Amino acid sequence: MPSHLQVAPEQLPGFLRGLPKAELHIHIEGSLEPELIFALAARNRVSLPYASVDELRAAYAFSDLQSFLDIYYAGASVLLTEQDFFELGWAYLLRAKADNILHTELFFDPQTHTARGVPIAYVIDGLRRAGDLAEAELGIKVELILCFLRHLDEADAFKTLEAATRHIGKFVGVGLDSAERGNPPEKFERVFKVARMMDLRLVAHAGEEGPPAYIWSALDVLGVERIDHGVRALEDPALVQRLLKDQIPLTVCPLSNIKLRVFDTLAKHNLRALLEAGLVVTINSDDPAYFGGYLNQNYVDTFAALGLEARHAVTLADHSFRASFASAAQKSAYTERLQAYCAGWMK
Ligand code: HPA
Ligand code: ZN
Repeated sequence: MPSHLQVAPEQLPGFLRGLPKAELHIHIEGSLEPELIFALAARNRVSLPYASVDELRAAYAFSDLQSFLDIYYAGASVLLTEQDFFELGWAYLLRAKADNILHTELFFDPQTHTARGVPIAYVIDGLRRAGDLAEAELGIKVELILCFLRHLDEADAFKTLEAATRHIGKFVGVGLDSAERGNPPEKFERVFKVARMMDLRLVAHAGEEGPPAYIWSALDVLGVERIDHGVRALEDPALVQRLLKDQIPLTVCPLSNIKLRVFDTLAKHNLRALLEAGLVVTINSDDPAYFGGYLNQNYVDTFAALGLEARHAVTLADHSFRASFASAAQKSAYTERLQAYCAGWMK
């Protein structure tokens, strides 16, 4: 498609920022900025173990996934009302608009909130209200994906799925997140089987910190359609062949991988290798308030570090639409927007 795309190196950041794209791996609780944490803590009279926004931000130095999750769950403790979840969602969606995101699929973690006595209805309805408003006012299509916390047990996941059944139609699928090592996908085989019977779409985090074996079992035991992260797939050539054969998308999160020490530096990230292997890779922000940037920052920084070019960006954006849970008609409309954008850069 973009055979005559002409983007000079100094124009590349602008090209990336303007590119129409989808975001498929964003934990909405991970978009909770320190300023909003403090505002909600004051409004809801929740006490925080940090004296100021600066002190909280200074605590964002992580050594691995678990060290991040501890702070991430503490931050989410200020979310109590339906309005809180609406404001959380809306703040992210304004950022998404600024990043030229046309379609986004938001992960949310109900168990983080129901464990504190917050009704699941507040979580889902607040986020859905933000999503519906974004569709009407910002022209962004918003889907929700309910994630099970894998450090909790199967019974808790089942209880969560059951509580969510009253909200069918408000979320498009289920996922699996939280502490990966020691919590393999097969722990949730029966939960995912029921979710599949409910016609929900299935995704799971796998191969972020966990081994390629977890990607295999996410595919073969859970039957997921997309792998979140999946960067460790390259350790297993047979797995790469499988991902290619079934065109399984990977939702890669470069800045997250650096902050959580999956790779030492962005220059050492394997995103280029994943692309060159022909995989359906996408770029995403994961937990942007904690990892130093929203989606466009992930694109711009990764392209600079890996020396990627405009044609790679078009491939990544195209993948993001293809890998989404949009309808076929929506996907063609997105692809047309992408083509029209590229046409403006052809010479
Ligand atoms: N990995 C696993 N669980 C998560 C993450 C992540 O990067 N972010 C929020 N929950
Ligand atoms: Zn994630």
